[in-house]
Amino acid sequence: MTSETIQKLLADINGLQCKSLKEVEDARVRLLGKKGEITALFEEFRTVDKDVKRELGRPLNELKQAAIAKIEELRSALEASGPAEGSSEDLSMPGVQYELGSRHPVSIVRQQIVDIFRKFGYDVAEGPEIEDDYHVFEALNFPPNHPARDMQDTFFVSAGHLNPLLLRTHTSSVQVRAMESMKLPIRVICPGRVFRNEAISARAHCIFHQVEGLYIDEGVTFADLKQAILLFAREMFGADAQIRMRPSFFPFTEPSAEVDVSCNICHGKGCNICKGTGWLEIMGCGMVDPNVLEASGIDSKRYSGFAFGMGIERIAMLKWQVNDLRHYFENDLRFLHEFEGATEV
Ligand code: DAH
Repeated sequence: MTSETIQKLLADINGLQCKSLKEVEDARVRLLGKKGEITALFEEFRTVDKDVKRELGRPLNELKQAAIAKIEELRSALEASGPAEGSSEDLSMPGVQYELGSRHPVSIVRQQIVDIFRKFGYDVAEGPEIEDDYHVFEALNFPPNHPARDMQDTFFVSAGHLNPLLLRTHTSSVQVRAMESMKLPIRVICPGRVFRNEAISARAHCIFHQVEGLYIDEGVTFADLKQAILLFAREMFGADAQIRMRPSFFPFTEPSAEVDVSCNICHGKGCNICKGTGWLEIMGCGMVDPNVLEASGIDSKRYSGFAFGMGIERIAMLKWQVNDLRHYFENDLRFLHEFEGATEV
């Protein structure tokens, strides 16, 4: 071994260039590996004369340090610049696909109902899902022993005192809050989630959605109610939709009615969706009972109003003939994708 051998190798190392991490590793093995050139020089060094050791000891150590530093420098430069051409990554591979969501049919119908009534000048109001007995029953003229107040129908959050907390069983509670807080005249719709203690089946669920409507002013009549609902039905189900009203009973309206819309599947001829009648039930409604107005501090001699309430899932079922309520809550993507783009009224 001579000083020239060391100088030549040092020059090689200083001029070293690598295009990939693999080339860096190969260079490391060639120089510093078990059978590497520098390792071989160190082995030879053990056998040389004292004089040569004195002369070449230092340059040999410096050579090794230079090699280690160069390898490290090349490796970090390549790592910083990312995978180079010829690396194992295939840049033409398709990326990870993210599934696009779509709007839930309940949200679509809710938005359509809101949009229709907004056009008629209604505001939107929301109330709490955990309500008290007063707003869900008492102020709406439910007698104390009414069956809806039973544990069978209502989920109670705290029972045992005069005004227990419960999960609202209908959005009519929001009309009470609107009458308490809004200035007259009131024209408002209240969409929201409601809860009933029902066994889950195709036709019943313990959670569903309603939209409540309320209009109070001087001189509001049943004719105004009929007209509002007819206009709504035509916007929702088509320009040729007809409505009919059947007498009914609700504690908070007098008189009360249930509203049917002409079947938009068979156009009145009779099919299995309308069970051969040509009509489909869509909502309950009526003139706000004077007791309800007075309970919220509204002078029932001066003001009158109407209210109506409909189930959002029910309207969705009629629009799309999905007749099992459970589909609306299971979040099966095959079901949800059916409604992609279905935002038109
Ligand atoms: N709250 C009723 C229900 O849940 C629906 C309803 C009927 C609302 C008649 C009204 C109404 O405002 O006038 O079944």
